[in-house]
Amino acid sequence: MNKKRLGVGFIGAGFITQFHIQSWVGVRNADILGIVSLSMEESEQAAALARSLNVGSAKPYESITAMVANPDIDAIWICAPNYTRIENMEEIVKAIEDGKGELAGVACEKPLGRNAREAKKMLELVKKANLLDGYLEDQIFSTAVSRGKEIVWARGAQFAGRPYLARASEEHSGPHMPWFWEGTLQGGGVINDMMCHSVEVARYLLTPPGADRRVLTPVKVTAYANCLKWQAPEYAKMLSETSGGKLDYINRPAEDFGRGLIEYKDQEGKQVVVEATTSWCYMGAGLRLSLELLGPEYSMGINSLDTGLKVFFSRNVAGKEGEDLIEKQNAESGLMPVVSDEASEYGYVGENRHMIQSFLSGKRPEENFEDGLDVTELLMAAYMSVEKETTINFPPAGLDSFIPAVAKGEWNPKNK
Ligand SMILES: NC(=O)c1ccc[n+]([C@@H]2O[C@H](COP(=O)([O-])OP(=O)(O)OC[C@H]3O[C@@H](n4cnc5c(N)ncnc54)[C@H](O)[C@@H]3O)[C@@H](O)[C@H]2O)c1
Repeated sequence: MNKKRLGVGFIGAGFITQFHIQSWVGVRNADILGIVSLSMEESEQAAALARSLNVGSAKPYESITAMVANPDIDAIWICAPNYTRIENMEEIVKAIEDGKGELAGVACEKPLGRNAREAKKMLELVKKANLLDGYLEDQIFSTAVSRGKEIVWARGAQFAGRPYLARASEEHSGPHMPWFWEGTLQGGGVINDMMCHSVEVARYLLTPPGADRRVLTPVKVTAYANCLKWQAPEYAKMLSETSGGKLDYINRPAEDFGRGLIEYKDQEGKQVVVEATTSWCYMGAGLRLSLELLGPEYSMGINSLDTGLKVFFSRNVAGKEGEDLIEKQNAESGLMPVVSDEASEYGYVGENRHMIQSFLSGKRPEENFEDGLDVTELLMAAYMSVEKETTINFPPAGLDSFIPAVAKGEWNPKNK
């Protein structure tokens, strides 16, 4: 593309769009110009946030087609709920095919699809419209992750051999909106929602710097899932109440704890392992991301709650409930860790910078829809392993058409 600045439109005005908008203050050469959501009011609120942060003269749009039709908009960030992915992407492609507008690229939040069929469809659609594609996996762009990887590979792997084990974990006390909890809408439970991050960041750490992500070949997947907290009657009742009676975790739960082990072979046939643990039943200060990379004579570790900044409030401070100290904050008093720049530390700034530079220079982002599809396929194999209670050789037969029982509203660990 010939432009020096990228005009960006967002689909979705919720939690993640607001995170992206905040990250934009650390991003160059792009402006947020439009927002589409289910309500003009909500879109205007997100647009006002962008304007107040001076990251673009954003305005609300009635439809995706109308946003694509603005010649100042060059790329779309898809940030609406999982169950709208295909319809969002189809509308983008139709607008382009009908000659309503032109785009350089599309970036899509995780997961790319709720299952392999949907993720494949997203890839097909983006190719059909001849667009550059970015898969928004923020964790691989976090500076702690990229610096840690750089140092470990340069100093450790070069002398002692490649790392062989990556552990990744993401845990918090549960999602902020009812649709995340509903397997049929979201595509699964915590495995689909959060293990998508863990499997990809772990694969990234085990991949030699500069090498294609596909130098690692998945060979086997073993997983476990359960509903440890939210199926208990008192917690199921809370979910029912906060969803206006829609969520029924007694009869139709989703997994709130998931564990996966992925065995890979590298280009020399060496075995390397990813161990991922995710949960919606972690009660701590807030979101906890932990990562480890281990090799023969070295290791690295990250724990997002080991923050430099901590604050303390005595029992005499009556704190109002908020999420101002940390994402998914659970308390307002006592000793509290504070992630001082969440948009940067979780990777959103680096992620958006990479996507923008790629689109402006006409290059496919390093993290793209192929990676999103890989992640979805690994997660589907994990659900197969959970259901069959066995290790799955990868790729398993029937992967393309597999829908997890939890996504069909048919999974209940109590009935095992
Ligand atoms: N990278 C991360 O760590 C991370 C964190 C949270 C969410 N996400 C992903 O981002 C996506 C959005 O999550 P969220 O937490 O912002 O959800 P949310 O429920 O807070 O917001 C969803 C937004 O999408 C809008 N919307 C709903 N249906 C739509 C449609 N058909 N067309 C256009 N807009 C529509 C809603 O009006 C709302 O503004 C999800 O896919 C989620 O998995 C990623």
